[in-house]
Amino acid sequence: MLEFKLKSKRNSNDNTVHLVVGKGFKKDESFSLAENKAIVKAIADKREYLMLNNGDFMSVIVLIHGEQGWKTSEKIRSVGAKITALLNEAKSESVALMTNDMLFLSLAEGMALANYQFIKYKQSKDFKPNTLKTIHFVGVKALEPQISALQIVVESTCLARDLVNEPQSFMTALQLSEEFKTLGKKAGFKVDVWNEAKISAQKMGGILAVNKGSKIPPTFNIMEYKPKNAQNKQPIVLVGKGIVYDTGGLSLKPTTQSMDFMKCDMAGSAVVAGVLYAVAQLNLPLHIIGLVPATDNWIGEDSYAPGDVITMYDGTTVEVLNTDAEGRLVLADALHYAKKLKPQLVIDFATLTGAAVRAIGPYASAMLGTADDQTKQKMFESSYAVFERLIEFPLWDDYADELKSSIADMTNLGKGEGGQISAAKFLEHFTDYPWMHIDIAGTAFNHANKTYNPIGGTGVCVRLMIDFLQKQIK
Ligand code: BES
Ligand code: ZN
Ligand code: ZN
Repeated sequence: MLEFKLKSKRNSNDNTVHLVVGKGFKKDESFSLAENKAIVKAIADKREYLMLNNGDFMSVIVLIHGEQGWKTSEKIRSVGAKITALLNEAKSESVALMTNDMLFLSLAEGMALANYQFIKYKQSKDFKPNTLKTIHFVGVKALEPQISALQIVVESTCLARDLVNEPQSFMTALQLSEEFKTLGKKAGFKVDVWNEAKISAQKMGGILAVNKGSKIPPTFNIMEYKPKNAQNKQPIVLVGKGIVYDTGGLSLKPTTQSMDFMKCDMAGSAVVAGVLYAVAQLNLPLHIIGLVPATDNWIGEDSYAPGDVITMYDGTTVEVLNTDAEGRLVLADALHYAKKLKPQLVIDFATLTGAAVRAIGPYASAMLGTADDQTKQKMFESSYAVFERLIEFPLWDDYADELKSSIADMTNLGKGEGGQISAAKFLEHFTDYPWMHIDIAGTAFNHANKTYNPIGGTGVCVRLMIDFLQKQIK
């Protein structure tokens, strides 16, 4: 984790990063004549950054070209990723960030998110981890709250990435619950874990069916952050798909570019844990409850089978036509449980459908829901602010018709086209409150490094939700 520290002045041999606003730039007294000339030229050339030659330390000038707004913020985050790479190549351990423009927060965000590595299992002596450890913010004592908040946001995002990057051989449903408990203790939120006996007694038929082929019992996790000064009378509930591995079950997935990365199928649960971890440390005055149904979707002697009819937690009977459409089964039980909490709003996060990926690729998450327009609008604003884009799909009833069964109340399988929508229609059946569903199948996991999101789990929706929740505070 890149650590953020405050400093009143830079030391003479500190590596430095400056931000310079291109528009209207003539000169800056803190630079020499030659440096100012070089900056003016770099601005005219529309360069992203400029390296000044200072002998024993590195000095980088990041140039801001666009107008203020989400596009420029995102540009600066991605330049931050490049600066992190430069500093690591130079084996630097720290850098002094000269904070002459508010975009320094975006720059630091990009730098810190890009510095993330998942190296728990790396043992080769040839492997050199990143050297960069600290960003010193120079001369911004007054902005300490923003800086420490940003540190929490980055840390929570990286924690979600860690949870996703762990293979299922380690991150079983039981282990995931242990991780939640540890996080709850560290940050200050309650964690209640239901074991298999309790899940059976409660008749959570969706979770139990998916778990049937597994050697490892399922868990149902309830996380709660309820500060005394909570402004919301009814809780905001976050639900996360916690399939720690998705083989597809008897409707087995092929390996390449499909099952091979299905350790990411609990990324929704990582969002929920990451957000609770953040809000508890940020002391947000909001009552928030997180729900995670967790199990693997394994293949075994006792696996549930295509054609089975199961009875869900709410009593609905479902004809399972494809055991690979398991996410909606476990989520449905959690969504039904959420009714008891009389929520103001429920948001679920799930790597739910390949259809969402086919529809929009890795550039945005699919959003569908029954929440009011104003709430959705706020969510879109946040999605641009943090550049975790959303695209809305309609919850038309035509897609629910695809789920009609000849022998049960419904099936778990719609048509291939618009599969992200029929999946959401399935979930909608189990809700009776304002609700948003965010399908992160395309955005939760990177197959290669991409700006400030390295290969593997991206932690997508953690930054989105923190921004959204902060905007809920009056
Ligand atoms: N976990 C998958 C969805 C997924 C696909 C996540 C790609 C991440 C990347 C989900 O459980 C699944 O298998 N969905 C099926 C549903 C279908 C059988 C209706 C799918 O999308 O193919
Ligand atoms: Zn599946
Ligand atoms: Zn799945």
